[in-house]
Amino acid sequence: MSESMSDSIRPLAVVTGASSGIGYELAKLAVENGHDLVIAADRPEIVEAAQAFQGMGAKVEHLQVDLAERDGVDKLVQLIGDRPVDVLIANAGHGLGHAFLEQPAEDWMHVVNTNITGTVYLVQQVVRQMVARDKGRVLFTGSIAGLMPGTFQAVYNGSKAFIDSFSFALRNELKDTGITVTCLMPGATDTDFFERAGMEDTKVGSGKKEDPAKVAKVGWEAMMKGEGDVVSGVKNKVQAAMAAVTPETALAEMHRKQAEPGSGQH
Ligand SMILES: NC(=O)c1ccc[n+]([C@@H]2O[C@H](COP(=O)([O-])OP(=O)(O)OC[C@H]3O[C@@H](n4cnc5c(N)ncnc54)[C@H](OP(=O)(O)O)[C@@H]3O)[C@@H](O)[C@H]2O)c1
Repeated sequence: MSESMSDSIRPLAVVTGASSGIGYELAKLAVENGHDLVIAADRPEIVEAAQAFQGMGAKVEHLQVDLAERDGVDKLVQLIGDRPVDVLIANAGHGLGHAFLEQPAEDWMHVVNTNITGTVYLVQQVVRQMVARDKGRVLFTGSIAGLMPGTFQAVYNGSKAFIDSFSFALRNELKDTGITVTCLMPGATDTDFFERAGMEDTKVGSGKKEDPAKVAKVGWEAMMKGEGDVVSGVKNKVQAAMAAVTPETALAEMHRKQAEPGSGQH
């Protein structure tokens, strides 16, 4: 088959944060399900990820770019060009542990700009294109963290509350179109997340976590079914259900026990 023929046949998936963790596994699932890829992340590991996905038979384009920057998102949109995007996985994100007052402003702003601003800026542009074709699937990686105040990870949990909420609002706005919007809500998952957030000495950071491949599979399947949201794992489903009926003050105190620096050493 010529490359131009395969270009026209294979659907395209755009996956942000595909260099590691849940995003890597989601991109892998996209390839296993016959997609070509446009992938982006901020650090050089995205090159190795691209090579791995190419080795699995996909056509892959990668971009090393900071998606907290408007310019970074613009570069990704330019790379996509006018190609139809069948699947958009808005997954790039990171946490930030420790007390809010101790966090440098540029660090928590980077959380907001990655998890919220860059994410919705990308989604707006790609979904406009999907609407023009009346076809597409969007998967956000939100979090059950969005269901509870994040003592010692306050800005991150707030950013995920935004994504969990935004995803359902966009889904409803698009309900009469051919576009589905799904929010994957993982609990603690075994990725680079806690190291990057400076939370390895916390109870949640040092405790048992879910396998990112399993989490990604749950998210991929929910997206393919067009579900509104999915919480991965039985324990997290219980936690999510409890969060809905527990006062915010109690949730904030419970989060302290999980995320306070040094809590993993007791
Ligand atoms: N692990 C958990 O417990 C957990 C639970 C619920 C939700 N989540 C969410 O799951 C998503 C994936 O995280 P993960 O757990 O898989 O952690 P991870 O292994 O650290 O992966 C995060 C990915 O996002 C990319 N990324 C982060 N900031 C970026 C930026 N400014 N610009 C471009 N790329 C950026 C990273 O690339 P670089 O390394 O190149 O920056 C990496 O590819 C995040 O949205 C996270 O909030 C994680």
